[in-house]
Amino acid sequence: MSLSYPEDLKLLVNEALRQYFPRSDRHLSVVSEAMSYSLFSPGKRFRPVLTLLAAEALGADPKIALPVACAIEFIHTYSLIHDDLPAIDNDDLRRGRATCHIKFGEDVAILAGDALFAEAFVLVLTEQQKYADAGRLLETLRELAAATGINGMVGGQAVDIMATGADVDRDTLEYIHNHKTGSLITAAARCGAILGGGSAAEIEAISEYAKHLGLTFQIIDDILDVVGSTDGVGKHVGRDADNRKTTFPGQLGVDKAQDEAQATAAMAIEALSGAGFKTDRLVDMANFVLRRTS
Ligand code: IPE
Ligand code: IPE
Ligand code: MG
Ligand code: MG
Ligand code: MG
Repeated sequence: MSLSYPEDLKLLVNEALRQYFPRSDRHLSVVSEAMSYSLFSPGKRFRPVLTLLAAEALGADPKIALPVACAIEFIHTYSLIHDDLPAIDNDDLRRGRATCHIKFGEDVAILAGDALFAEAFVLVLTEQQKYADAGRLLETLRELAAATGINGMVGGQAVDIMATGADVDRDTLEYIHNHKTGSLITAAARCGAILGGGSAAEIEAISEYAKHLGLTFQIIDDILDVVGSTDGVGKHVGRDADNRKTTFPGQLGVDKAQDEAQATAAMAIEALSGAGFKTDRLVDMANFVLRRTS
């Protein structure tokens, strides 16, 4: 089983993030500094890399998806900044550094998140049109907006908050994970497939893969909060129990949660069987997500 991570694509993403980071009118703007602080802290860049992998799997040059890929990392970073706020998870460590609101204050952190979200759409509208026709460009914009709205990430975050300390059923547990985390991961892969010129059937296969991969990703995130190390994950561990969060290991125990992750990763890989395009690096990514320690 391979644990290789596509470092070549991560490098492309990191370079493009530098290129696309929005210049602010006032260079010393503290909000711009906060955006940069959070965006350029050492994340895995998993979602944008997934976008590039999906485009590549369909035979496209992954570079053509870089604007949307970077926009997705802007959105992800916004979600982390807001997730860490005292009103939500109240965390003070992220990517091995003080969280945005600890470093800059809550007011600036809220605005930095808001600005990253808006700038994601500016980036796609300004840069992606160089590599995509209007139809595919609009499709990706719809993916991004829908994945982050009330039936996407924000909906998942809302139920996550409402489920705090509650005894929720399996459906609700899956709803939280599939929406707060799965929606953006699925959109990341779908955007890559759309921009890579995928047919409806190819986009559907990659979507199904990503849906299962998103659930795997969050189950492992919850498991790492129990058995991982602060050095590995760059976050304080044990925070879900402190916050009385509803999680897979909390409900099932670590071993059964690991079995669930194994099963969902297998479903992700299965979704690609017979797909008719090059799937090896997508399969490697599923194995990475399952075995990751950071
Ligand atoms: C953390 O995402 C938030 C979740 C949805 C679990 P990542 O584990 O991708 O965090 P970074 O981007 O590598 O810091
Ligand atoms: C976060 O889930 C999901 C989003 C940021 C939308 P978690 O709250 O479990 O993520 P971490 O553990 O803080 O990274
Ligand atoms: Mg949270
Ligand atoms: Mg959190
Ligand atoms: Mg977590």
